[in-house]
Amino acid sequence: MMETLRGKRMLYVGDSLNRGQFVSMVCLLHRLIPENAKSMETFGSLTVFTAKDYNATIEFYWAPFLLESNSDDAVVHRIFDRVVRKGSINKHGKAWKGADIVVFNTYLWWMTGLEFKILQGSFEDEVKDIVMVSTEDAYRMGMRIMLRWVKKNMDPKKTRVFFSSMSPTHQKSIDWGGEPNKNCYNETKIIEDPNYWGSDSRKSIMRVIGEVFRKSKVPITFLNITQLSSYRKDAHTSIYKKQWNPLTAEQLANPVSYADCVHWCLPGLQDTWNELLFAKLFYP
Ligand SMILES: *[C@@H]1O[C@H](CO)[C@@H](O)[C@H](O)[C@H]1NC(C)=O
Ligand SMILES: *[C@@H]1O[C@H](CO)[C@@H](O)[C@H](O)[C@H]1NC(C)=O
Ligand SMILES: *[C@@H]1O[C@H](CO)[C@@H](O)[C@H](O)[C@H]1NC(C)=O
Repeated sequence: MMETLRGKRMLYVGDSLNRGQFVSMVCLLHRLIPENAKSMETFGSLTVFTAKDYNATIEFYWAPFLLESNSDDAVVHRIFDRVVRKGSINKHGKAWKGADIVVFNTYLWWMTGLEFKILQGSFEDEVKDIVMVSTEDAYRMGMRIMLRWVKKNMDPKKTRVFFSSMSPTHQKSIDWGGEPNKNCYNETKIIEDPNYWGSDSRKSIMRVIGEVFRKSKVPITFLNITQLSSYRKDAHTSIYKKQWNPLTAEQLANPVSYADCVHWCLPGLQDTWNELLFAKLFYP
């Protein structure tokens, strides 16, 4: 992998799940590199791991919708009334130009209900022109804009582009026949049913991804990680993650209430996503 990256820039673009995959890749590779020949720096939305002797970088860019949105601040982004601006990829896209390998993801931030707010015009407009569209239509618009950006800005002879499907969550234990009102907390075994599919991974969105890629000639490699990850109710960070605010007595008494069943432990599942990426990079 390091030889492939020599003189190159690899970039993950998306939300915190893609950030997890970026961290997984850095963890897998960095131990090969001596302490004084590597660095990790953050510049706003961009985090850059540099392997100096290889003149290579592995980077992560925070853009949870890929397009411009009101959730674009890399640190302060707990926004529940989410709005995405129609057609607006260049605000972020200008930071992606020149990358040799790009890995996109986007999904969870769109999942606020059955509809989603799309801004036509600009965030600076005094009277904002916002329309509600179905989540599927909003997501389809986002994917098409992403493909158009790739077509315009990336040379398929020199670059590789990947897109990851949705990362499943395990917030409702009734999905796998568990007790009601429980989640991934205290789960230590995988789901054995090969056909298992959690309710949080919307099949309608998977259909949109399939349709958009079928109709497009833009060369993108699809990393279909949803099903293989859906078995792993045991692999989330659960209660073993850094808490940004101290936990209350009430929370401590009920760990289910603060278990994170979205993100994944490392080492862990996301290393497998990178192994899949690695295989597709070498044997397209
Ligand atoms: C390092 O890589 C960049 C591309 O990421 C390239 O423009 C530059 O010429 C390379 N420098 C050396 C010393 O190889
Ligand atoms: C965790 O699960 C085990 C069985 O799998 C059970 O015996 C134990 O009570 C559970 N702990 C909590 C705190 O729910
Ligand atoms: C991804 O894989 C799942 C499970 O194998 C499949 O049902 C789905 O259709 C695939 N998605 C696409 C867009 O091919």
